[in-house]
Amino acid sequence: MAKGVNNSDASALVIFGVSGDLARRKVLPAIYHLFKDSLLHEKTIVVGTSRRELSVEDLLKQVELCVLENDNVCDPAVLQAMRERFTIVQLNPTKGSDYEALHAKLQEIEDTQGVCLNRLFYLSIPPGVYPAVVKHLGEHRLNGSCSHNRAQSRLLVEKPFGYDYASAKELIESTNRSFSEEQIFRIDHYLAKETVQNILAFRKHNAVFKSIWNAKNISRIDIAAFEKIGIEGRSEFYEQIGALRDLVQSHLLQLLALTTMDMPRDITSSQEIHKAKQALLEAVEPVPADEVRERTIRAQYRSYKNEVSNPTTTVETFAALEIAIASSVWKGTTIRLATGKGLSEKRTAITITFGQADDANHLTFRLQPNEGIDVELLVKKPGFAHALQAATMDFRYADTFMSSNHPDAYERVLVDAVRGDRTLFATAEEVLASWHILQPVLDEWSKYSDDLKTYEQGSTAESLLESS
Ligand code: BG6
Repeated sequence: MAKGVNNSDASALVIFGVSGDLARRKVLPAIYHLFKDSLLHEKTIVVGTSRRELSVEDLLKQVELCVLENDNVCDPAVLQAMRERFTIVQLNPTKGSDYEALHAKLQEIEDTQGVCLNRLFYLSIPPGVYPAVVKHLGEHRLNGSCSHNRAQSRLLVEKPFGYDYASAKELIESTNRSFSEEQIFRIDHYLAKETVQNILAFRKHNAVFKSIWNAKNISRIDIAAFEKIGIEGRSEFYEQIGALRDLVQSHLLQLLALTTMDMPRDITSSQEIHKAKQALLEAVEPVPADEVRERTIRAQYRSYKNEVSNPTTTVETFAALEIAIASSVWKGTTIRLATGKGLSEKRTAITITFGQADDANHLTFRLQPNEGIDVELLVKKPGFAHALQAATMDFRYADTFMSSNHPDAYERVLVDAVRGDRTLFATAEEVLASWHILQPVLDEWSKYSDDLKTYEQGSTAESLLESS
């Protein structure tokens, strides 16, 4: 058993949609790595649910391919260990009676192993199916476990949590009818990235920055997540979602919260972190309806219409917006959030600009590529003339810690959910505050589309941001 994973953590990981894209690309490879590094309790069982008939063997073949693609090697002994702990239950998620079989299966496993397992229901399924699954889990007493007060039943849900403020509220209320808030783990995998977990630690423990972390010294904050890839065949999903809902509502606003929230006294306290994040998100001013045109940019890459076979679609693959925080600490700082697909490079970063124009310094948290943090300072160029040049002081995880081999975000998500640690998950209040910030933009964008720009795949993000 691994360090820090105690006896009460023997769990059944029940993955709804085990044959889907997310499970295949992210969740199952993460489970493979957790098995490989012995980070799960030895009595852990993985139960995949699938509508169609599916064998463990077929599924493991797909896991092997995915692991090979990323790691170049896939350990047969680890696959064998997974094979022994893996089972599949055929289940139609919207059919109530199928949940009896799931209930019976879990009971049978627990009886055979002589242990009460934590039950983790991972919903790796389209959001439209969530409410039905949650309702059926509740109705079939799967929201509890065989021994209360010790083993727990938990729900892990993937974003998007709703489609707008009203639907998110409805989803939260309907989920709360079957599961209490403490049982719900809303995944935002950005929060589980090492660089993101570093934001609070960096802010708290570096005296050089601590006292200047405010609008008096910080003129701009840019939070960007740019991708080279397009929508990768996720037409149906993307047509309902678009860039604003996909990344800004969740990942980018969470990054903003961690960057600008008041520092909790204890940065290891989940409760204090969530309280501070919520307060910050609630202080962000929604863009007023009459300023949406001026303060937002939306664009679509040229081949998108063909890709989704919808010649009239106005769904954005690029979104940017300028927002403000209504607090004395941040009044006057320009904040821009931007994201897009089909761009020239993959780059995710938070850039903090201290000072103005010629005297500006930049501090950048690099999430991707080359995870790390850099500070750009101005230095005098050697020589007789007084000329300045920017010099970068660069921390890279790969160099400092001699390896970039820290747990992947999905491994962290699973381990924390098994341990019942909700620090790196979004609360209902955070989700609602984020939708509240974006609601006027969603409303305005739904009324017209003459501002939607078109760009070639491979364009730079700067070309889109500057053309406005
Ligand atoms: C997901 C989005 O949440 O994040 C995807 O749904 C996006 O559209 C992905 O591609 C990006 O994640 P990462 O970790 O590669 O930056």
